[in-house]
Amino acid sequence: MDAESLTPKLAVAYPAGTVLFREGDPGAEMFLIVAGTVRVTKRSASGERTLAVLGPGEFFGEMAILTGEARSATATVEEDARLVPIDAGMLEHLVARSPEISVRLLKRLAFRLKATNDLSAILLHRDARVRVVRGLALLVETQGEERGPDEVYVAVTPEDLGTQLGLAPEEVATVLARLERGGLVAPAGDGSGYLVRDLERLREFVDFLTDREASGELET
Ligand code: CMP
Repeated sequence: MDAESLTPKLAVAYPAGTVLFREGDPGAEMFLIVAGTVRVTKRSASGERTLAVLGPGEFFGEMAILTGEARSATATVEEDARLVPIDAGMLEHLVARSPEISVRLLKRLAFRLKATNDLSAILLHRDARVRVVRGLALLVETQGEERGPDEVYVAVTPEDLGTQLGLAPEEVATVLARLERGGLVAPAGDGSGYLVRDLERLREFVDFLTDREASGELET
């Protein structure tokens, strides 16, 4: 959905740390992000799992208004944000008015479903290296930000990756340290995430691990 196509006056400012809604709450509106970032988290047996960190142009909270069910996750403002709240009536109006908005909404939902399916496939692997390398490749694909000719930034910490991949942060850190020694990743200066340095080699590494797994050299 295009932030510019909605009246910017409708945007409401929320400071970092604001909990917009919690998993299990009833929900009557979705939000479009005009500025800032929002972290979407879900409770799990091992603690809190980050599903996504969303930025400008992205939306969230649509599931409760489309399905009538409770919020499937908690949304917290990460960096001071300006959000446009959209209730069910307004969403209907937007969809009816603009095929372009409808298609963009459908595309985003389809990509989110694909990412969820890809993550489920990753969780079938038991080997921590396979999970981390594939998880990182998935993050590059779904939420990587280009920073240079062959450098992509992903906003994820070993803790986040661990909760997404069902691994302890130490296991993730061990694999990331190996990737760092191999020159494939580097921690971002501010500690907020990682720079993936050589995408081609990361893909080759995914293929290499997959081949070893197929030949029974790694536990699956
Ligand atoms: P809703 O269930 O209303 O409230 C929580 C929101 O988090 C949900 O709508 C989606 O917008 C968003 N959400 C849920 N799962 C994911 C996911 N896997 N990736 C990104 N966003 C998600």
